Amino acid sequence: MNLKIEKAHPEIGARVWGVDLSKPIDAETAAAMRKAFDENIMLAFPEQELGEPEQLRAAQVFGAVAMRKKPIVGDGPGGNFDTPFMLVTNIVENGKSIGAFGDGEMWFHHDTSYYPEPHRATLLYAMKLTSTGGETRFSNMYRAYDMIPQPLRDKLEGRRVLQMHDYKRRERLNLDTSDLSKIRHNWQPLFVTHPATGKKALYISRLMSSQIEGLSRQESEDALEQLFDISENPAIVYEHSWAIGDLVIWDNWCSIHARNDFPRDEPRLMRRLTIEGQKLAF
Ligand SMILES: [Fe+2]
Repeated sequence: MNLKIEKAHPEIGARVWGVDLSKPIDAETAAAMRKAFDENIMLAFPEQELGEPEQLRAAQVFGAVAMRKKPIVGDGPGGNFDTPFMLVTNIVENGKSIGAFGDGEMWFHHDTSYYPEPHRATLLYAMKLTSTGGETRFSNMYRAYDMIPQPLRDKLEGRRVLQMHDYKRRERLNLDTSDLSKIRHNWQPLFVTHPATGKKALYISRLMSSQIEGLSRQESEDALEQLFDISENPAIVYEHSWAIGDLVIWDNWCSIHARNDFPRDEPRLMRRLTIEGQKLAF
């Protein structure tokens, strides 16, 4: 086994060298990949040449691959739904996106925090990139939990937070005007215990977290604003500049991610898979 793990940032992220994911992965290498994933939260495998079957096989090292889910109402994003693969892209064919999450900045969020059983991980494979921008920022939510002032942590311990998602990219959903029956949403622990590592992580994000249980609207907003700022502290954020052939996996139970803006008139194409998860506990 020739696996080499190179830290991308002191707090989160590593580059993994010495494995060709287009070939079958032996058990020893797979175990080392899982260990590196638990330790680093986000892994980038540079210079990979992967078709769908190879990306699927690499993903299966980390768990069972999830199928895509349709929004509750409306067309939502484009592309096929009878597949685990989703294209994250701004490419439009015949007037309709061939995938989802088009262009522009996207605020910090967890993927699928609004599911009853949030997916453990997401994998993105970079196929077409713009000449500038489009970096993805990853923030370490174990560290964010550590950074919450003790009085605020005591006030929030044991509370749940409403996570919701309506395919918006840079605005909070308005609870007064949103019809929850039409939007995927779920109450989650505000602080989760990571099922694999046993460590506590902050589980909120600016894009998807709308209200804390048992607090007045104003108290909830004040606490969330504080938590958003902590969760986005640059000291715990790694910004990944993509290269074609990067396969990146991140852990949605202990990290949030955000996307930088990029030129709209240049094509960007990423192939995405997610790994099944489980109900998250306090
Ligand atoms: Fe995402």
